[in-house]
Amino acid sequence: MPFLGVNIDHVATVRQARITNEPDPVHAAVLAELGGADGITVHLREDRRHIQDRDVRLLRQMIRVKLNLEMAVAQEIVDIALDVMPEQATLVPEKREEVTTEGGLDIISHRDRIMQTVVQLQERDISVSLFIDPDVAQVDASADLGVEAIELHTGAFADAPTAAHADAEFDRIVAAGQAAVQRGLILNMGHGLTYRNVHRIADIDGVHELNIGHSIISHAVMVGLERAVREMKELVRR
Ligand code: PXP
Repeated sequence: MPFLGVNIDHVATVRQARITNEPDPVHAAVLAELGGADGITVHLREDRRHIQDRDVRLLRQMIRVKLNLEMAVAQEIVDIALDVMPEQATLVPEKREEVTTEGGLDIISHRDRIMQTVVQLQERDISVSLFIDPDVAQVDASADLGVEAIELHTGAFADAPTAAHADAEFDRIVAAGQAAVQRGLILNMGHGLTYRNVHRIADIDGVHELNIGHSIISHAVMVGLERAVREMKELVRR
């Protein structure tokens, strides 16, 4: 059974909408752990649009499960990772104008820069995962860098406009996944996975970890709203 890494970035997105102290992603992480999360994933973006430095440091102290820090190949963030020491660092591309991580890292074009960051992290025993598109050439380039893991970007599968497109994307994911396992890489997957589409991805042979954020946080808002209103109503009534 694949491990479930719960990405709590969007708890921080709600907090940052008011630049206040609630909801606290650290509190959310503890609840996710109680719910059975095998890992907590956060993306400390260079623009700090959701997760803040303080969140990463407190998460390191609070959670018992694996901490997976998503990060750009940027020295400022690498230095924080080396200080906080997550079990895993997932290197992702980052563009300021994007809404979310829109594509995988291009390992072939940026090999040397990525390699420098990989070495820095591995020297401190932080396991490195590269977030890449489901492309066998990118898997091979990742394996050549000597990383421990890759995370295949499942966004194109999740957002496919038709069932035929979804099937074609699924086949690419399976082929890239097979190549990764053959090269001895730990196989992670994530992006755009939902309660509707996760079963197909979770069923793929060799998948080690799924990282899921938006759909879980969206569902949490819905399943928790009725109780939250009831509790406020009770306070108002009293
Ligand atoms: N994996 C990576 C590398 C990501 O960047 C993200 C989004 O932050 C996710 C997984 C989770 O994607 P989603 O929020 O669509 O579940």
